[in-house]
Amino acid sequence: MAETHEIDWDDYISETGKRWQPSAKKRPGMISFLAGKPNADTFPFSAIKVDLKPLIPGDPVETLTIEADALSEGLQYGATAGLPALNHWLENLQEVRHKRPKDGSWRVTLGSGSQDLLNKVKPVHNHDEERSWLQVLSNAFCSLVNNGDSILMETPVYSGTLGLLNRFTVNLIEVPVDMEGMDPAALEDTLANFATKYPGKPFPKLLYTIPTGSNPTGATAPLERRKAILALVRKYNLILLEDDAYHYLSFDPDHLVPSYFELEAQDGGQIGRVVRFDTFSKILSSGMRLGWATGPKQLLDVMDLHSSNTNLQPSSTTQAMVIVLLNKWGIDGFLAHTRRVAAFYKQKRDMFEKIAHKHLDGLATWVSPEAGMFLFLNLKLTKDGTPGDSSALISTTALEKGVLAVPGIGFLPNSGISSYVRVSFSLATEEDAETGFSRLRECILEARGEHSA
Ligand SMILES: Cc1ncc(COP(=O)(O)O)c(C=O)c1O
Repeated sequence: MAETHEIDWDDYISETGKRWQPSAKKRPGMISFLAGKPNADTFPFSAIKVDLKPLIPGDPVETLTIEADALSEGLQYGATAGLPALNHWLENLQEVRHKRPKDGSWRVTLGSGSQDLLNKVKPVHNHDEERSWLQVLSNAFCSLVNNGDSILMETPVYSGTLGLLNRFTVNLIEVPVDMEGMDPAALEDTLANFATKYPGKPFPKLLYTIPTGSNPTGATAPLERRKAILALVRKYNLILLEDDAYHYLSFDPDHLVPSYFELEAQDGGQIGRVVRFDTFSKILSSGMRLGWATGPKQLLDVMDLHSSNTNLQPSSTTQAMVIVLLNKWGIDGFLAHTRRVAAFYKQKRDMFEKIAHKHLDGLATWVSPEAGMFLFLNLKLTKDGTPGDSSALISTTALEKGVLAVPGIGFLPNSGISSYVRVSFSLATEEDAETGFSRLRECILEARGEHSA
């Protein structure tokens, strides 16, 4: 039996979090003069029609139409946690995909992309009026709040998350990532020796990781590592933020590694320490700006209060488009679509890597990604093997020669140098890869003081 009662969230809610009030609920039959909603009769749209690409080129185009009730819902302000039908659909998906029965221990909330939702769990310090549930958690685990909190970040890490955190005075504690994702031995060492390694810093309460096809490293954490990390999360009373943006871009969908959200309910241990982030950005559309968080109700309630006090809700209109499609597909159809997307990226990876080998063997190394859209190239910029600085190369010779990549330094929580660059194969054609890697090769050779053959 899973231990669900150890985390007493009520004690954890900050004073600010408690000040946020939910709006009044309308019971059936009530006449409401409450909401400042515009009258949808004045909106100029009568239907939204969405054409689907045929699976087989040349087949007839199928059109989905959003009209009448669905349209008025899709054009109006809606529930903070997303349109009820879409929220419900995603709960069903999570139940099936992550084998988590709807037992009341978790729920889903939608946001304007997973980045929006990550933002809502950001630690906020010094700004009383802006506290989030994370600060709530700060109270929880150390019975103290805030200033100068410590957060464990897998490193290198998605620069967008660093961007969210940059504004705040937090200690970003780096946990190294290797070819198999975050290293549990290094995590344990950090946690077990925290006071000596980081004297005067508060003990961390949060661990952020991108377990599948990580951005930028491309690494996917195998099962044993995930189990070891989850054990440490429990042992040290951490909350794990599972940013799984590339979950559906796993190249071997028949052998998926279970998510942390799934694993925490598998072994009878404590549940409620994983908050999971998913996104439609990589599988339906990034412009729709829709993502969803899944986790303990107590925390998501506070995140929703954050939304209702800031951007109110994600777009109802794009949600209406998504739910009409998902209802047509069903969960099986959705998963079949994600498999096609993953197969597309796998093909891209194979093409891209083959050409990378042709031009860069001997001049760069990388781990072949099992998911996602990135190669993280370790450039051999010096002949004697000392670490080079990719950032100088990218901003000088690479720019001159006409090839762009993101230097590894952009993914470091704290300062440092990096010999890595991140290159993405999502948009690259074969021709782009040939030209781009041949130019990168020239840059590396130049940095090494060699001439191209
Ligand atoms: C690891 C990771 N998390 C989150 C995001 C943001 O996704 P969304 O478009 O859902 O905000 C990205 C986007 O590239 C990402 O790579």
